[in-house]
Parts: sequence; structure tokens; C-alpha cells
Amino acid sequence: MSLRILDHPLASHLITHLRDRTTKPALFRSLSYQLTTMLALEATRGLGTVEREIETPLMPCAGRVLERPLVVVPILRAGLGMLQPFQDLFPDVSVGYLGLERDHDTAMARSYYSKLPVLKEAWTIVVDPMLATGGSACHALDAVAEAGAGHVSLVCIIGSREGVEQVRARHPRVEITLGVLDDHLNADKYIVPGLGDFGDRLYGTPG
Ligand code: PRP
Ligand code: URA
Repeated sequence: MSLRILDHPLASHLITHLRDRTTKPALFRSLSYQLTTMLALEATRGLGTVEREIETPLMPCAGRVLERPLVVVPILRAGLGMLQPFQDLFPDVSVGYLGLERDHDTAMARSYYSKLPVLKEAWTIVVDPMLATGGSACHALDAVAEAGAGHVSLVCIIGSREGVEQVRARHPRVEITLGVLDDHLNADKYIVPGLGDFGDRLYGTPG
């Protein structure tokens, strides 16, 4: 399994403002958009390309185009905050949805919705801003594997060591791309230092 972490001063700048408790939902959404754009480019660095003959206004030219279709699968609800940058960068991307919610007491993920397109030939990218225990991510990765996905990546804004280890153990072939790797989880299984509840901060809902 490969683990990539953004290594760019702009990523540090954006994540610091995202973490800041005084950041309001409108700015939070725009910071998430910018960070996800960076993550999407990093995560798709290894996309295969095939040769395509075209003609420029001056002469024939052997160019290259993307080899496989892309599917992005946001985990509802917080993952929706990462969808638009993928659609803007890759206009032909198909979108699948998985609804998962952590139980407040047990921190176990419960599935409440699933709608996936054909995944067989595609590069599937599961997106969720927070990788805490890894329970939600593994649930989603199980679902896309069952639906036939071959090449799968996981893209998160903040990950914990525990979450990365969990994914590594259960889905060793999945490539993970993070904005930042945080140190640990607190007693309530929240990422520390983290940023709190991503979904609540994105949508302005009280915790
Ligand atoms: C958050 C987050 C992940 C999950 C991470 O979602 O968006 O899906 O928790 O935690 P885990 O790694 O321990 O599973 P949440 O369940 O709070 O739902 P929401 O997106 O609807 O707010
Ligand atoms: N979900 C969040 O939104 N934040 C965390 O720190 C953990 C799970």
C-alpha cells in the first residue's frame, strides 16, 4: 500500500485555517475545495495514459489521453465537500454515493445508502475528509470491492495513524493520499489535533 501526504506550503496554510475553530462554514467550504483540488492532483499522479493521434492546426501530433474512466465515491455526508473539485478537474468522472454514519457512542460506522456505478474497468477514488478509526473507510472500500472495483484509491484531508493502519491491514492494495497525518485519536475517537466534526463544520450544524 502506498501512502502519500501533501508536501506543499499551500497545503499547510489551508489545513491550518481549516483546523481553526473560528473558521466559519463558508470559508471552511472554500478551504476544503482548494485542498481537495491539491489532493485530487496528487492522488491521480499515477493515472495511466494511452496514445491518441490528433491534428493541431499545424500538423498531426501524437498526444496522450487518460486510459481508464474515473469514478469518485464520496462517503456521505462530509465527503460531499470533496466532490466538486473532482468534477471540475475531471468533467467525465462518474459519481457513486455511500451513506455511512458513525454511532456517537461506539464510533462504529452504519450504512444507510449505497448507489454505485459500474466499477470494473474504472479507477475508483473513495473520498472522505476524515480517516479516524478507519471503520468508515474500510466499510466503503469493502463496498467498492464487492461492486467489482479493481484499482482503488482513498483520498482524505486528515488521517490518523490508527486509521491508516486499519486500511493498510484490511485493504493493502489501496493507495492512500492525505492532506496531513495527525497523531492520535481521543477517547471519543476524534482525530487530535484534528478539526472537530467535519460534517458539522461544513454544513454549519451544531455538534
Ligand atoms: C465522519 C467522517 C468519516 C468518519 C470517520 O463521518 O466524515 O466518514 O466520521 O471516522 P472513522 O474513521 O472512525 O469511521 P460521520 O460518521 O461523522 O458522518 P457525517 O459525514 O454524516 O457527519
Ligand atoms: N469524524 C470527524 O468529522 N472528525 C473526527 O475527528 C473523527 C470522525
